[in-house]
Parts: sequence; structure tokens; C-alpha cells
Amino acid sequence: MQKLNNKRIIVGITGGIAAYKAAELVRLLHRYGADVRVVMTQSASEFITPLTLQALSGNPVHTSLLDTEAEAAMGHIELARWADAVVIAPASANFIAQMTAGLAGELLYAIVLATCAPVCIVPAMNKVMWENKATQDNILRLRQRQIKIFYPVRGEQACGDIGFGRMPEPETIAQKLTTLFQPGLLDGKQVLITAGPTREKIDPVRYLSNNSSGKMGFALTSAAVEAGASVTLIAGPVSQRTPERVRRIDVESAVEMQQAVLKVINTQTQDIFIACAAVADYRPQQVMKTKIKKTLSSPEETLTLQLTLNPDILMSVAALQQHVPFLVGFAAETDDLMANAKEKMRRKNLDMIILNDVANPAIGFNSDNNAVTVLGQALSLKLPVMSKQALSRKLISLIAEAYARKVPVGKKTSPT
Ligand code: PMT
Repeated sequence: MQKLNNKRIIVGITGGIAAYKAAELVRLLHRYGADVRVVMTQSASEFITPLTLQALSGNPVHTSLLDTEAEAAMGHIELARWADAVVIAPASANFIAQMTAGLAGELLYAIVLATCAPVCIVPAMNKVMWENKATQDNILRLRQRQIKIFYPVRGEQACGDIGFGRMPEPETIAQKLTTLFQPGLLDGKQVLITAGPTREKIDPVRYLSNNSSGKMGFALTSAAVEAGASVTLIAGPVSQRTPERVRRIDVESAVEMQQAVLKVINTQTQDIFIACAAVADYRPQQVMKTKIKKTLSSPEETLTLQLTLNPDILMSVAALQQHVPFLVGFAAETDDLMANAKEKMRRKNLDMIILNDVANPAIGFNSDNNAVTVLGQALSLKLPVMSKQALSRKLISLIAEAYARKVPVGKKTSPT
């Protein structure tokens, strides 16, 4: 089960006999879909080797604050920023004391100080050390600083004592970690999104295109990632920054966009396809190899550009025998809005269409805001003007609900 899909988790390991259990924790988090980076204190490597944890996490293990090579690859500040959560398991009495004092002499301490992500500690030590007032005072102070404590359990300890101080089982820790994150509406789903315009070459320096900026498609991409999806974004020529954790493929023309879409679907089954790109319906029948010369001499003369039909990307996906189970199109309309959108939805065989009135320059193309009407099976919902980011969150939640109705959990209509 991909409960932690897309989540970036730092597992900090400190020196203690329970360090061996951290290997199983790393394996479980990785299995739950998390991207795991392990940071070990110097004493932790006396108990378990970095190599084991590297193999289980699939990432290099970080051990030193002063290793210039490692810092150049991903320094302590970058690691601190990278993480969605930091869990320290086991957290020794010494680590807890140093963390309470705010020391930063080792990499793991520095990360804990520098991160804005939630930090959880899993204390594990001898029961007398755990019950000691110094340790309990430290725990209280850490709790006051919003550090989450996954409390030790009772049982037989490595030293033979019986009492509280044992590290909980890795499965319990992994389960607790999943509750840190809001359950994503699209957890574990593969979502393919197209954004931006296409450019259809006329000659080496000219092209046909439109005013799409990519803002809507990129905002949808961020919202889908926030909802837990793994997103592939196929973008026409735009100057938007790629949202984090997104695989972006850049294309120019409609034909290239169609090829990229079909390649992604053929390589990895997609659950949802959202076609937000403003794809040119036509392209010049012939692309001139050299720049077209200015041969006309008066405004009365004309130059004719022959256009040919571009492939319809949405229709080609809908027509795939084993197609993506949920298809969302956009309709950019200037007149007869509802009738045109409904007709596109039927003709293109879509589960949902998002209609924008592009005659209004305050919304739609290149604006920061948009207002749409969402049409689906038994759904017609008008969403007022708002930022493309806010709108995208609403759209993604509507898409996720409609997807869940069409493809109930455990049932996949897609091939693999
Ligand atoms: O990029 P922004 O500046 O933020 O603007 C956002 C937007 C206005 C471009 C966006 O919200 C939008 O409406 N995108 C769809 C624009 C469009 O091409 O609409 P259409 O009605 O021509 O096409 C209908 C649907 O078919 C669309 O999902 C489109 O991606 C798809 N299509 C169209 C033509 C084609 N050859 N292949 C397609 O797949």
C-alpha cells in the first residue's frame, strides 16, 4: 500500500542497540512509497553499517556535517528543506539531551535545528535512563516545542532489565508516520497533465500559436502533487517553473505533444489524464525550409498559408483500446459555451469537461485567475473567479471524487 507516496522522509539513526530495527523501518517506509534519506550520527555507525541503509533506502547515507563532497551533493540545509518529516529512531538519551540543548555539532542535530518539517523522535534506552528526571524533563521540553514523541514500549531490554525503554516495532512507527500527513485524495495515482500552447512551425523563424501561458496546467500539476499523485507534465513552450516532484517533458508542436502523451501512457499506465493544453487544431501543411521572403508589394495582394488538421490528442487517448480510466478535457469557448462544451465532452468521450469562457480577458488565457463550469456525469458546477491555484485545488478534489466513483478502490479499468 503506497501510504507515503511522494513523501520525503529523513530517518535519523543515533547510537543505540535498537539501531538495527531502523533497517526494517527504512525498508517499510520505502515500501510505503516514501523517498527515504538516512542520516546517521557517528555512534550509530558502530551499531549498523551505512551500506545496509544505503541498500534499503536506495539513496546515499549521510553521516558527516564536515564532508565537503557530501555537503556539495546535498548539504544539511538542503536536506532540512527537502524533508516532509524527520523521524529519529532510535533516539538515544544523549541525542535527546543534545537536541533539547539545541546543539548542532553533528549533521543530524543541525538538520533537526534547520528543518521546518515535523520532527518525531522514538526514544530507546535502558529503563532507568528513560525514567531519569533529566531525560523526562528533556522530553517535556521537546514536547513543548511541538516535537512529536513516539513513546517507548515496555518489555525485555538488551541489558536484561524489564520495563519501559524498548523502541516500538518498525511497523508501528511507520503507521504513526502515515498519520502525520493528511490522506491525499490522489494518493498513489498516476496523473498525466498537458499544459501550455503548441507551436506549429511555418518556417525556421515563424510559427502559429496561441496565448496559453501554462499557468492553469502548472497550477493543476501542483494541486495533483499536493493530493499525493505522481504527476507527469507535458508542457508546450512556456516560461513556468516546474513544480517540485514532477516529471516534466517539454514539447513544441501538437504532433510532438501527442507522441509524448502516448509514449507516457504506453510506458506507465495512467489513472487520470487532464488535457489542459491549448493544442493548435491546425498546422501549416508544409513547413518551409527557409524563411518566407516578403514577395508581396501591395496590401491588395495576399499570401495563402495552407493548413492541415492536427491530431486530436484527447480523442487519440480515448480511442486507445486499453485507455486511461479517467479523462478530463478543457473547453476554451467564446460563444454558445454550454452547448459547445457538452458536444466536446460527448464527441471526445470524456468523463469531465472544464469549460472556460475565453472571451473574457480577465480569466482564462494568460490570466492569474479563472472561472469555470465543471461538467461531468451527473455534475454541473459553476466555480466563480479565483486564482488558478485555488481553482486547481477545487478541480483536483472534484476529479478525485468522480474518479473514485468511476473506479472504486481495488478495481482498475486500466491494463496493468
Ligand atoms: O495556459 P493558461 O494561460 O493558464 O490558460 C488556460 C487555458 C485557457 C488554456 C485552459 O484553461 C484551457 O481552456 N485549455 C484548453 C484549451 C483548448 O484547446 O480548448 P479546446 O476547446 O480547443 O479543446 C478541447 C480539449 O481538447 C482540450 O482539453 C484540449 O487540450 C484538447 N485538444 C484540443 C485540440 C487537439 N488537437 N487535441 C486536444 O487534445
